[in-house]
Amino acid sequence: MSADAFARLRWSRLGPQDRDRIFELHLRVLRDMSPDQVRPESLEFFEALLDGAGRIIGACDPDGGLVAYGVLQDGPDPGTRPDLWLDWPSDARIQKLAGSSVAQAYRGQRLQCELIRRRVALADPGAYLYATAAPSNPASWHSLLYEGFEIRRLRRVYQDSLRYLLARRAGPPIVSADADASRPMDALSLDAQDRLLSQGWRGRFLARTGAVFVPPEVAGP
Ligand SMILES: CC(C)(COP(=O)(O)OP(=O)(O)OC[C@H]1O[C@@H](n2cnc3c(N)ncnc32)[C@H](O)[C@@H]1OP(=O)(O)O)[C@@H](O)C(=O)NCCC(=O)NCCS
Repeated sequence: MSADAFARLRWSRLGPQDRDRIFELHLRVLRDMSPDQVRPESLEFFEALLDGAGRIIGACDPDGGLVAYGVLQDGPDPGTRPDLWLDWPSDARIQKLAGSSVAQAYRGQRLQCELIRRRVALADPGAYLYATAAPSNPASWHSLLYEGFEIRRLRRVYQDSLRYLLARRAGPPIVSADADASRPMDALSLDAQDRLLSQGWRGRFLARTGAVFVPPEVAGP
């Protein structure tokens, strides 16, 4: 996709009439991915989100074709307690970035970053935001790190599938200072990452070094 094509995309909040084309794009991107990389969603999932359980935004090409969507879900997944996993207040207002897809022809321009920025801007002021991304889906967690999310935990979720749990507050992102004690993510096995995360280290994107883990004294509350 050229910069010109990016500029010509039309962004909007999607409604119940868009349900089938959102689902069609979801199924299309799933063809190249395994459930260990992306959670397969049902038509009813999108229907509920469009019906008030959250919001879905989309980008259309000049012919009106849907080329990307992103889901902002009000509240955590039913039956889960991210507030406990992430040491959030029990009355925290929680919203989840609950999935996004970019059509193959539109990849490689950080369109997911735009989807993340727009959903963070739509979130309630002060909301506690989280998302999940499979370690084997770097396009997804790189985009979240670029947009100020931090990797906070590594957990088995969605029928025993491994995911990073990433979080940030709504509002402007915390600007990370480069940390001398940081450790490059790509030099650490998933077991080593899991150990650091359980000790309070966080995965962040730093301008100078890229994706790193920063120690608790740098990570802050
Ligand atoms: C995840 C997805 C939305 C990202 O699309 P996109 O915005 O076009 O992503 P990009 O191709 O611009 O990649 C974003 C970043 O990840 C990096 N990245 C992409 N694939 C990568 C890979 N295999 N290994 C390492 N880094 C990778 C890119 O290099 C880019 O960083 P850069 O700009 O610094 O180079 C898209 O791949 C998709 O629709 N995947 C299927 C559905 C999905 O995984 N959804 C998210 C989880 S629900």
